[in-house]
Amino acid sequence: MCGIVGFSSHEKSACEPLVNGLRRLEYRGYDSAGVALESADGIKVVKQRGKVAELDKLLKEELATEDERAKYTVGIAHTRWATHGLPTTVNAHPHIADDGNLALVHNGIIENYATLRAGLEKRGCKFVSQTDTEVLAHLVATFDKGDFLSAVSHALKQVEGTYGIATISRRHPGEMVVARKGSPLVIGIGEHETVVASDVSAIVAYTRQVIYLKDGDIALVTPDGVSIYSLDNAPVSREVQEVDWDLGAIEKGGFDHFMLKEIFEQPDALRNTIRGRLDKSGATAILAGLNLTPRDLASFRRVAIIGCGTSLHAGMVGKYLFEKLADMPTSPEQAAEFRYCNPIIGPDNWIVALSQSGETADTLAAVRESIRKGALVSGLCNVVGSTIAREAGRGVYLHAGPEISVASTKAFTAQVTALLMSALKLGRTRRLSYSEGARLVDEIERIPELVGEVLKQNERIAEVAAKYAKADDMFFIGRGILYPTALEGALKIKEVAYVHAEGYQAAELKHGPIALLSEETPVVALLADIPGKEKTVGNVQECRARNAPVIGICSEGDSAAAEHVNDAIFVPKTSEEVAPIVSVVALQLFAYHVARLRGCEIDQPRNLAKSVTVE
Ligand code: G6P
Repeated sequence: MCGIVGFSSHEKSACEPLVNGLRRLEYRGYDSAGVALESADGIKVVKQRGKVAELDKLLKEELATEDERAKYTVGIAHTRWATHGLPTTVNAHPHIADDGNLALVHNGIIENYATLRAGLEKRGCKFVSQTDTEVLAHLVATFDKGDFLSAVSHALKQVEGTYGIATISRRHPGEMVVARKGSPLVIGIGEHETVVASDVSAIVAYTRQVIYLKDGDIALVTPDGVSIYSLDNAPVSREVQEVDWDLGAIEKGGFDHFMLKEIFEQPDALRNTIRGRLDKSGATAILAGLNLTPRDLASFRRVAIIGCGTSLHAGMVGKYLFEKLADMPTSPEQAAEFRYCNPIIGPDNWIVALSQSGETADTLAAVRESIRKGALVSGLCNVVGSTIAREAGRGVYLHAGPEISVASTKAFTAQVTALLMSALKLGRTRRLSYSEGARLVDEIERIPELVGEVLKQNERIAEVAAKYAKADDMFFIGRGILYPTALEGALKIKEVAYVHAEGYQAAELKHGPIALLSEETPVVALLADIPGKEKTVGNVQECRARNAPVIGICSEGDSAAAEHVNDAIFVPKTSEEVAPIVSVVALQLFAYHVARLRGCEIDQPRNLAKSVTVE
């Protein structure tokens, strides 16, 4: 949801770090991109519609020689996911004010921008774009009476909404002011250079020492470091932390796409999710970050698992796990709906917030609402130090490593694994027996290896994908714990292959959607050999009777189920609890290959962004 980069050095040109940083952040939005560079001669803005590669080309045309680039040692940059105004060059960031002497980039939404704009127009400010951000640039310029930091804090006090911003001004050479409220911002402290970005992936090439700004922080950034304040100008101290992964983790490493790399990373990612968290002798899970005593766990009457997109689907699997293993009434909730439906929650409710990025605005808002209502909130996030992780104050990090592909894969399997461990822990304080606990500990330990087995089916899955890649509509069916997997399979293929797909409870298909089946609508059936499979086989027969070709995700060796489908893809036989994980990996590969064969832009599908920081 828009990516911001800032770079400040005494000697080094800002051009390359800014463009490289934008490349790392492109997953956050990619409809236009731009940079503003500062030199003694003033501020130069280069921006255009389209992706960062096009911006890079343009920048190289405009600043053709090393010498030209070298004079710009401070700059800000932006890659956009449009909210206000079309994705045009004029609406691209940076936005300028003060006759081109000030430039600003912004991630978030200024909710009262229309009122602010009307006021500024009355004072003679001329606007060129339809964006909310331009208002902020003019506001800062209007308040600038010689102290850049206080001009920006004055401006931000007028703003209702969310922001992560970076701004530079010719009137304040060498100074960059950055601030955050609701949109993430990280500052990397290098040797005589400082890098600012929406997330650490744009920083690790330069330094591993980072400071995560908190909401309400404003900072003055120079090549020599950073001073942080509150909007009321009181100095604030923030810890410098060390990032524990390196550049290799955010590069493609020989794969054609990040999506494929991340699918194949799952055995390692899941090993990291599980590491140190299983207690064999106690037949339970150790999730210290949850910070919940057995008494806390025993006091819960209800669990709600909140999330959006893929995370919501993981939460739906969580419902089955919590209810089956811990006898705990559990509801998966779409975060925005949850927040606005006056949720009936209190101290005896456990709210589990699922978010890969830890920044999704709808999920964050639901977390805040739950905390306000006195519920106990845990975050299950992948990005360390993310807002949801911090505000929840307790939780489980997924440790799945950076996920760059917009379509989420390894985060889903890591979330389900973390939920399974949470359900095991909760269950063991309630009714789950030692032997059941021990069985689950063994099952969880095997997950990475089982996922590795599914990956060996890659070629077979590519073959099946080739057979159906031209279909424009598909159905995915599953029942019980495999129903959310059907939804996730449908979501993956919508996101990356632009195939219209619907996930249905296998039993529900006959109550309407079956009318749409024909030889041109493949049905993907989740047929892992767990309770309920026989009934799904019955539903498969109903589909075939309407001439729909059926692809079955079946358990290894289950020829009885496989003979009912046109094309079987085999995954290892597992317990019911692990079946969603192995089955979804096959669907991730299926979606990937269909998308590849349809020539889609797999890592950055149209209209999407990985981290949606607006409600
Ligand atoms: C966006 C992404 C989805 C993702 C969802 C939730 O819509 O395109 O892939 O599942 O956000 O993201 P989160 O980071 O909260 O898991």
